[in-house]
Amino acid sequence: MNKNVLGGGLALIALVIGIMNYISIAELTSNIEDERIETVQSSTEEEHGEEHYELAKAMGYMQTYTHKLYLAGQNENWELSSFYAHEIEETIEEIESAKVVDEGYDISTLVGTMTNPAFEKVEKAIDNQDAEVFADSYKLLIQSCNACHQTTKHEFIKIEVPSVDAVFNQNFSK
Ligand code: HEC
Repeated sequence: MNKNVLGGGLALIALVIGIMNYISIAELTSNIEDERIETVQSSTEEEHGEEHYELAKAMGYMQTYTHKLYLAGQNENWELSSFYAHEIEETIEEIESAKVVDEGYDISTLVGTMTNPAFEKVEKAIDNQDAEVFADSYKLLIQSCNACHQTTKHEFIKIEVPSVDAVFNQNFSK
C-alpha cells in the first residue's frame, strides 16, 4: 500500500517535470520564431536599399572564394575551380549593382574594371584546364585586388596568393 502511494507520487512528479519541460521548449521555439521574423524583415529592408550596403561583407566573400579557388586550381580540380570562379563573378556583379561609393570612390564601377581582365584569364585557364596559366592569371587577379585597395586608401588590406599552411590569404604584418 505504502509502496503504491510512493510510486504514484513519483509518477506525478515525473509528469509535472515533463509538462514544465514541454512548456519551456514551446516558449523557446516561439522566441526563436519571433527572432527569425525580425531578421527576415530587416534583410528585406536592406534589399530595398534602406540600409547601408556592407561592402566589407562582400569583400569577405571575395577573399574566401579567391582562397578556395586557388586551392581547387592547385589540385587541378577544375569543376570546383569553376564553381568558385562563378561565386566570385556573382559577388562582383552584386557589388556592381549595389552602387557603392566608399569615401568618394565609385567602387561599383571600379570593381569590374579592375578585376575583369585578370578574372577572364583565370576563367579561360579553368576552361582549358591549364594549371600554369591558372597560376599566372591568379597572381594577376590578386594584384588587381590590392591595386584597388591601394587606390581607395585601404592599402593595409594586403591579399596574397595563398600558402599551403596559412589560414587566410592575407598578410597581417605592418
Ligand atoms: C574596386 C575596388 C576593390 C577591388 C577590385 C577589391 N576590393 Fe577589397 N576592398 C575594397 C574596399 C574599398 C574595402 C574596404 C571596405 C570597407 O571600408 O568597408 C575592401 C575591403 C576588403 C577586405 C576587408 C574585409 C574583410 O573581410 O577582411 C578584404 C579581405 C578584401 N577587400 C578582399 C578583396 C579581394 C580578395 C579582392 C579581389 C578578388 C578585392 N578585395 C578586390 C575595394 C576593392
